[in-house]
Amino acid sequence: MTPFVLTRDLCKTYQKGTVPVPVLQGVSLDIARGEYVSVVGRSGSGKSTLLNLLGGLDTATSGRIVVGDSDVTSMSRQDLAVHRRSTVGMIFQSFNLIPSRTALENITLELAFGGHPRSDRRRRASELLSLVGLEHRLSHTPGELSGGEAQRVAIARALANAPDVLLADEPTGNLDSKTVEEIVGLLVALNNERGSVTCRSSEASAPCGSATKAATSRGSDSISSGAALVSAPTP
Ligand SMILES: Nc1ncnc2c1ncn2[C@@H]1O[C@H](COP(=O)(O)OP(=O)(O)OP(=O)(O)O)[C@@H](O)[C@H]1O
Ligand SMILES: [Mg+2]
Repeated sequence: MTPFVLTRDLCKTYQKGTVPVPVLQGVSLDIARGEYVSVVGRSGSGKSTLLNLLGGLDTATSGRIVVGDSDVTSMSRQDLAVHRRSTVGMIFQSFNLIPSRTALENITLELAFGGHPRSDRRRRASELLSLVGLEHRLSHTPGELSGGEAQRVAIARALANAPDVLLADEPTGNLDSKTVEEIVGLLVALNNERGSVTCRSSEASAPCGSATKAATSRGSDSISSGAALVSAPTP
């Protein structure tokens, strides 16, 4: 297997004043194109930290991250901005939509950031919202949407610039159990249709969709290399 996303000896230590806080301690992962991976671990084990590093939102203390042909760990600020905008799409537990903008506008703005031609943004945004089953909610603001609908808009936004990798950080953490199933189903379906890499984090007890691998902390305080990959297909 040629990995599309790989990490080697990835370490992240935060600094709390003069006190180092080691979180990732040598994480090595290989993820192929089209894989759906769950990052599972208890609260504080470093799931968000790992996804933020993969997404270029934060920088590693040491180690390597490669996505496609690009070494993310040696990227300039400018290259990282491009990586965040076009190679990865991110989804968060709290949706992170712009509250004053409609569903459609949240997507057209993302398309604008990605350099999509103005004349085509509305059509493309409508298509994306149809893809997530929200063609009837284009003009609703986030406050006028249910939690599941808001997360669907966030998923559509994450797909706007056709990313190779979808990173979802506890995307169902704020949703009821029925909506969790719907959103996990949508992520799995998108993953199958698009052949892109999907990485999502979840508490150990949350449903994982059809994840074929999981990075877990195996009870340690941080995600460490020995525990990085576990074959864990979930029906
Ligand atoms: N900026 C920071 N400075 C110092 N420590 C930090 C910082 N950000 C995160 N941490 C610590 O790093 C550890 C991992 O945090 P992270 O958010 O990655 O965990 P998580 O697995 O996503 O947890 P949760 O399931 O609660 O979301 C935590 O113990 C946290 O306190
Ligand atoms: Mg987290």
